[in-house]
Amino acid sequence: MVKKGWRFHNNEKKYLNRILKSDFSAGSDNYMSEQFENLFAKKHNQKFAISSNSGTSTLHQALHSFGVGHGDEVIIPALTVGMCGFVVWQCGAVPVYADVDKETFLIDPADIEKKITKKTKAIMVVHLYGLMCDMDKILKIGKKYKLKILEDCAQCFLAYDDKKRISGTVGDAGSWSLESSKHISSSEGGVLTTNNKSLALKMRKFGGLGFTNITAFSGKVRIDKNKFQNPNWKRHNEFGFNYRMSELCAAVALAQTEKLEYFVNKRIESGKEFLKLLKKKNELLIPQKVPNKYIHSYYTFAALFNGKKKGISWSAFRKKFVNFGGDGIYSAWQTVNNEPCFYNARKNGLYSGSMKISNSYGWGETPVAINLQKNIMQFTTNQKNKKEIKRQIMALKKTIEFFE
Ligand SMILES: Cc1ncc(COP(=O)(O)O)c(C=O)c1O
Repeated sequence: MVKKGWRFHNNEKKYLNRILKSDFSAGSDNYMSEQFENLFAKKHNQKFAISSNSGTSTLHQALHSFGVGHGDEVIIPALTVGMCGFVVWQCGAVPVYADVDKETFLIDPADIEKKITKKTKAIMVVHLYGLMCDMDKILKIGKKYKLKILEDCAQCFLAYDDKKRISGTVGDAGSWSLESSKHISSSEGGVLTTNNKSLALKMRKFGGLGFTNITAFSGKVRIDKNKFQNPNWKRHNEFGFNYRMSELCAAVALAQTEKLEYFVNKRIESGKEFLKLLKKKNELLIPQKVPNKYIHSYYTFAALFNGKKKGISWSAFRKKFVNFGGDGIYSAWQTVNNEPCFYNARKNGLYSGSMKISNSYGWGETPVAINLQKNIMQFTTNQKNKKEIKRQIMALKKTIEFFE
């Protein structure tokens, strides 16, 4: 058995100690969030990185910075986590669902274009399972209809497309989650990047309680006590949320970012072993298609389960895999349009507080996503070493052999 905590045993502890010893003095030179942001920005060749308390908050901050508000529409893939829909709702806007490609499982640019209306303000693409969407086609649509593009990279660290572009650096903003299952983690956490100063400032202020002295480069607010410890000082010149990353999380996030390539390569190593196994003749699992020259970062190894045609249920396959020593298999979440809160809001004609939604809103049908959702299997790729990877591969090999 692998000892717990192996991902967090080096500088994570050192930086946490440093922060505890500093009494959380927010203005100190050891300000961890700033160090984390600088390193994350550098590794992505981006001018600005903004730390946050989750990969949901970051999406909300980005949409706000794009000016998404009451009555607007944002196009999101139907096959993704509910949080992608929540942030649209949090802006008072309406999520419109685009279908996905049946081979890559990623948002389908042709369907995005079909779902655009006069109310569309932005497109959120989700680089699901660690693979980048077709950004060239999406950028072209964005340009044609003057829409902002947000890349949700919660599951996609340091993946590349065929033009060698890093995930999260192609659209107007990139958003990552550092929740515990992600490539790198600070328990909870998130980060945004952009090259646009005005967007960076809006994102920071919105997540930083609208403090007057926040800048595009820094979330520090207690910078000049002689200035703000003054009854005449006006602290908030904008409305905002408190989405700031705690210094404890930032300490861990910094140490994790130092080892980002190491963690991504580990998942790639595992993903490639799954791929190698499934490339041998097998009729039960069809891997997520990786387009030519793309580099997949394998948050998980996703495949389409084809066993139902042979009378094998999704759950029976999973159970056997676990019996043979596999870690378990994640299912896909409901498509966002089928999650009860979104489904009921549509059915009842009510959405976003008092805003009345009529069916003239292009909610969007998504048959491919709805079919895929029932059959996707995600295998874990977060193994510590080759021995653990081998255990997963052997369990899957035995499971396939058992059913075939
Ligand atoms: C694709 C995607 N988007 C957004 C999120 C939200 O991130 P968080 O859990 O940090 O709020 C997640 C994480 O679960 C995710 O997988």
